[in-house]
Amino acid sequence: ASESGDHDLVIIGGGVAGYVAAIKAGQEGLKTACIEKRGTLGGTCLNVGCIPSKSLLNNSHLYHQILHDTKKRGIEVGDVKLNLTQMMKAKDTSVEGLTKGVEFLLKKNGVDYVKGAGSFVDANTVKVALNDGGEKTLRAKNIIIATGSEATGFPGLNIDEKRIITSTGALALTEVPKKMVVIGGGIIGLEMASVWSRLGAEVTVVEFLGQIGGPGMDAEIAKQAQKILGKQGIKFKTNTKVVSGDDSGSTIALNIEAAKGGKEEVLDADVVLVAIGRRPYTEGLNLEQVGIEKDDRGRLVIDQEYRTKLPHVRVIGDCTFGPMLAHKAEEEAVAAIEYIKTGYGHVNYACIPSVMYTHPEVAWVGQNEAEIKASGVKYRVGTFPFSANSRAKTNLDTEGVVKFIADAETDRILGVHIIGPGAGEMIAEATLAIEYGASSEDIARTCHAHPTLSEAFKEAAMATYSKPIHF
Ligand code: FAD
Ligand code: NAI
Repeated sequence: ASESGDHDLVIIGGGVAGYVAAIKAGQEGLKTACIEKRGTLGGTCLNVGCIPSKSLLNNSHLYHQILHDTKKRGIEVGDVKLNLTQMMKAKDTSVEGLTKGVEFLLKKNGVDYVKGAGSFVDANTVKVALNDGGEKTLRAKNIIIATGSEATGFPGLNIDEKRIITSTGALALTEVPKKMVVIGGGIIGLEMASVWSRLGAEVTVVEFLGQIGGPGMDAEIAKQAQKILGKQGIKFKTNTKVVSGDDSGSTIALNIEAAKGGKEEVLDADVVLVAIGRRPYTEGLNLEQVGIEKDDRGRLVIDQEYRTKLPHVRVIGDCTFGPMLAHKAEEEAVAAIEYIKTGYGHVNYACIPSVMYTHPEVAWVGQNEAEIKASGVKYRVGTFPFSANSRAKTNLDTEGVVKFIADAETDRILGVHIIGPGAGEMIAEATLAIEYGASSEDIARTCHAHPTLSEAFKEAAMATYSKPIHF
């Protein structure tokens, strides 16, 4: 094994958490190495997550709109055809450009990018089984674990990424399935259901709970989302569980029943997408060797400064606590480096936005109504529908609503929940407002350009403490 010189910091994992930490560390003058075994940087997010899914969501939406939503706009189109190979190529091109861009940024910031799988030898030594063969040993003053997460499997269903797939397979199908069943109506399930339904598959989503959208989504907004996605052709079976499956035939037979138990029913599918959540991935790290602990859900245990039992070993991103989101991982990466460098860092976990990139988009930040109710705080709700917003009307894209929830006594904004066009961009304004401790009146008294969708945001704020003008 070849010996490498000492590093101030060794990062295991080159996903969003790991590569952002590496860049920041380089900028701060720390001698840094980043170990990644995938062969490309960017982790789940850039390779098989955020980026490829958004490429397919954008282009499938365009295709669907050209097929179904041009006539009333005065656009007559002829022969519209799907070229799935080209759509996948466009996705791959975006992914490749971005992962190479990250590699360039590591280089620019003087980070050693080590291609291989890292594991602990002792508290300050990491061994890398190099992708090209051989081994390398790195000594480090500080270590960051950023090994991410993986899809949770479904007992009895064998994932082959062709007929029984996770999101990774759903981003790379070579033909549009006739019938697709999605197990789990969370964000992955609904984004992928949208893509394949738009491209022509008959999609049924089976969700165990009474509400779609996964954890965090406001119940009222989730109900609207289900109605709108239902109109687009996606079928939903909520309060339903998959009991077992049989993939021995030409189609896959899934036995389902009411969540509380009852009569079984069989769903046939050409492709089954398992989207019931993700779990931390920490395999092969040899954590036992150094005594780093996991909780009962496999998350690496850390304190408020991301430190494990070994104070110089920190953990960030999907493999520890908190929402599994790329921007959360990124915030933690910067904060972790600041802790190493200065002893101080900060992430406001009460103010992390969530976005579901369906059409319309769903986005939220802060607490939802059920959480606020449960906390006992007295609150006021203000809503404004996009059907009353001039820009949404001119765009012929009026489905959805903005919902504000503010403290009844102080008017401080507690949560904002949006379903509607551009919700994913609009939520940045709500995030800033909550971060700065704004009241709904602060937003309503801030001038918003006309005609924009964000006027719906302003008017929902108005509706919270007073009355909106246009509704
Ligand atoms: P990861 O991105 O998983 O990166 C960890 C990396 O560590 C991997 O590349 C892995 O190969 C590497 N690694 C693991 N073990 C070792 C080892 N021993 N040695 C070397 N390398 C190792 N989030 C959003 O915010 N917005 C979205 O739109 C969004 N869309 C998503 C869509 C899909 C389909 C999926 C699956 C996820 C999506 N996410 C989204 C979630 C997002 O991808 C994750 O939150 C994010 O990637 C977490 O970053 P991470 O660095 O913690 O982990
Ligand atoms: P999730 O936890 O968001 O949703 C899983 C859903 O499956 C839940 O609604 C749950 O009730 C349901 N479920 C669980 N077991 C079931 C069963 N046996 N039968 C039927 N339904 C069942 O997980 P998901 O969608 O897999 O996403 C994983 C992570 O990836 C999330 O944490 C999410 O934040 C992240 N992600 C984020 C995206 C974004 O920000 N746009 C996009 C995609 C993923």
